[in-house]
Amino acid sequence: MERQPRADPYQVFLAKYPEYRSTAHLDDLRAADYSRLDAGGHVYLDYTGAGLHAESQVRLHTEILNAHPLGNPHSASPTSSRTTDLVERARAAVLEWFGATADYTAIFTLNATGALKHVGESYPFAPGGRLLLAADNHNSVNGIREFARAAGASIAYAPLTVPELRLDMAPLDSMLCAGTPGVPHLFAFPAQSNFTGVQHPLALVTRAQERGWDVLLDAAAFVSTNRLNLHDVPADYVSVSFYKMFGYPTGVGCLLIRNAALAKLKRPWFAGGTVNFATVGGRRHILAPREAGFEDGTLNYLSISAVEIGLRHLAAAGIDAIHTRVTCLTSWLLEQLIDMRHSNGRPMARIYGPMTTTMRGGIVTMNFYDPEGHLLDYRRVEELAGQQHMSLRTGCFCNPGPGETAEGITDEDVAAALAAHPNLTLPLFLQMIAHQGGKGAGAIRVSLGIASNFADVQRFVQFAASLRDQTRLTMGEASFDIESCRVIRDGS
Ligand SMILES: Cc1ncc(COP(=O)(O)O)c(C=O)c1O
Repeated sequence: MERQPRADPYQVFLAKYPEYRSTAHLDDLRAADYSRLDAGGHVYLDYTGAGLHAESQVRLHTEILNAHPLGNPHSASPTSSRTTDLVERARAAVLEWFGATADYTAIFTLNATGALKHVGESYPFAPGGRLLLAADNHNSVNGIREFARAAGASIAYAPLTVPELRLDMAPLDSMLCAGTPGVPHLFAFPAQSNFTGVQHPLALVTRAQERGWDVLLDAAAFVSTNRLNLHDVPADYVSVSFYKMFGYPTGVGCLLIRNAALAKLKRPWFAGGTVNFATVGGRRHILAPREAGFEDGTLNYLSISAVEIGLRHLAAAGIDAIHTRVTCLTSWLLEQLIDMRHSNGRPMARIYGPMTTTMRGGIVTMNFYDPEGHLLDYRRVEELAGQQHMSLRTGCFCNPGPGETAEGITDEDVAAALAAHPNLTLPLFLQMIAHQGGKGAGAIRVSLGIASNFADVQRFVQFAASLRDQTRLTMGEASFDIESCRVIRDGS
């Protein structure tokens, strides 16, 4: 019997996702502006870790830097004024990008974490007040609970559903109803989980506000591939990092504050650049209004002048086109992984979070298993992928909640690990629970972005398929001895 030729996967993909064709200009953009990817044979799959910059962004920025001398912005000299103009242009461009021109203040920070820390240290937490956190927050949001705790506010986590790892709406609704009127309450959740890619409903912003909560929306993992308009989603506080949106510059993020919520924040200190008046003798200071009161010391002004270029780059590529492309590729990747089977018929991969692209972004987090169902060591998987020039991310991604929920890790597991090792580290904890309880909280994350294409995803699919019928993968010759907490090499 004659064998049927195998269908070309790209043609199968295009037939299934015809809307992908409308994003063909992003292939041209990749060839022109991200040529270093294909020149080096790289498969970049970590856009949630960091976006990649276009080569043209750097060229345009260099032109700005080399055109005029640029001085420290805090003065009226010509070189200082030019810098101030560039910073204010960047600020206006950011506000416009997020549909926030009239109602918001944009504060430049070091990164999203810097934005979140401003909220944590300045929010008026007090006894009787509350901090409600999604159990799907990055640690830079989780860390705000230490400010709440120190001020005597109560702290609660809104749980996630299993297996989709979405916010569980029934308990969340009752938690949102439980506030004491008149005392500040802050609800913090991510627009997109950096662990599972789940997109939590943005309608939660107004739902919580109607119940008297201020809302902190961590948009760091969302805004590189999704449009966020603060006119429609009027969160009180919003955090972003620009290198995640368009790769360059690093070292600049932003806190967007709804003007009506700005007055609630009370800065615990002052610094150079943040005061209209400060004395030594009288020990008095008067904080500058709006963004100036939050921008400590000298801004990263040279890098900030690259922000507008990055936003223009995203606009030219089209955020909706990026979104469409990433959604098609993510959906294909999910289907391929879900269908992957060992020769004995057992599934090869476990995916964390939803199995479709409904209310989920371009992040797929997974673990691989051997034919007997043993977890493959994700660090070894990462190592093998690296040998093929593939950049993935593994671990917990600084977001411990979803892994804990998915694996049923309990407070007792944590307490036992801490009792055994007061200086516990995350890698050690992951090893302990994997060995003692057969639970695995770490995973492998693939995330897509502006320069992703079908070939990238297909290379990963082929790589994953190469794990078929693999028995346990360990880290090189080493294994982990849980009693002594030592890595054991053969013969040692
Ligand atoms: C959802 C989310 N929030 C916050 C952060 C922190 O961002 P940065 O490290 O740029 O401050 C990250 C980084 O991965 C993230 O994914």
